[in-house]
Amino acid sequence: MLQPSKPDRNIALEMIRVTEAAAIAAARWAGRGDKNAADGAAVDAMRFVLGGVAMDGIVVIGEGEKDKAPMLYNGEHIGNGRPPRVDIAVDPVDGTTLTAMGRNGALAVIALSERGTMFNPGPCVYMNKVAVGPRGRGSVDINASATDNLVELSKRLKKPVQELGVVILDRPRHELLLAEVREAGARVLSISDGDVAGAIATGWPNSGADVLFGIGGTPEGVIAAAALLGLGGEIQGLLHPRDEDEKKLAESLGYDFSRVLMTDDLVASDNCYFSATAITDGDFLRGVRFHDFGATTQSMVVRSRSGTVRTVETFHRHNKLEEFTSAGF
Ligand code: FBP
Repeated sequence: MLQPSKPDRNIALEMIRVTEAAAIAAARWAGRGDKNAADGAAVDAMRFVLGGVAMDGIVVIGEGEKDKAPMLYNGEHIGNGRPPRVDIAVDPVDGTTLTAMGRNGALAVIALSERGTMFNPGPCVYMNKVAVGPRGRGSVDINASATDNLVELSKRLKKPVQELGVVILDRPRHELLLAEVREAGARVLSISDGDVAGAIATGWPNSGADVLFGIGGTPEGVIAAAALLGLGGEIQGLLHPRDEDEKKLAESLGYDFSRVLMTDDLVASDNCYFSATAITDGDFLRGVRFHDFGATTQSMVVRSRSGTVRTVETFHRHNKLEEFTSAGF
């Protein structure tokens, strides 16, 4: 007789608890002008909740090297050592400045994938990226010009270039890119920070974003890849050295600046998780609200194996908050 297959463990809820804790802790610092305090509070909270998850995790993308980052440092072992064996990428606050300035678009995020499947950015701080949602997948090429990509994407999405929403980080390094996109006639959705949210927006129905172009953090590119794997979209990256020294160092370690990193080079797993909780309001999630009873959060969690996308609104009671809000409640 056929045995019904055992459902494998889905740790989506555990991942949401992790980003919720970080978001609430950071949100207490929203608009207070201190990005290190916001980040520190989120790191503490994230690590506290992560430590309680049954897993054998290694931080591949964390807060930096061990001596500079006391918590969630690259290479740190997390969990109780039991399966699943996973790689972990965290960004307790993507948008530290957004949070400190009380601006929209800051997220607490985490990605998890099977051990050995996550791209390690090493010394490569920046990556040139192009990201699209599920309908645009396969229509863009990071080695093509922005104009050509917009033309191909417009054919694929069956709408004129003039109606495409293009997310670009507002940075001097993007001056030429911006001019080209404007010349092509597309609509620019400029963001001052937070290109993980920018990449997710391309795969989120009705966000208004169709494509993300430009140079942002490599760790954020890997985390966005986990999100887009679950959403069915695509990200391509080319490592972008800041200077000759960084290039030489990275090349000596085996990094190749001409290699196109496809979504599944960044996260080579068909079973990864991505969770995000909004710290401040964003295009697809509302930021933390504090109430007399505690706080509410909005999160999303995706799992690539099933392609399930969950959005979760959570009501947190004071007593629970006290457990993970280092600033107290
Ligand atoms: P932080 O929250 O760590 O400051 O990162 C925000 C961010 O905007 C990322 O989303 C993005 O990938 C990166 O910074 C861009 O780097 P830079 O600010 O150096 O241009």
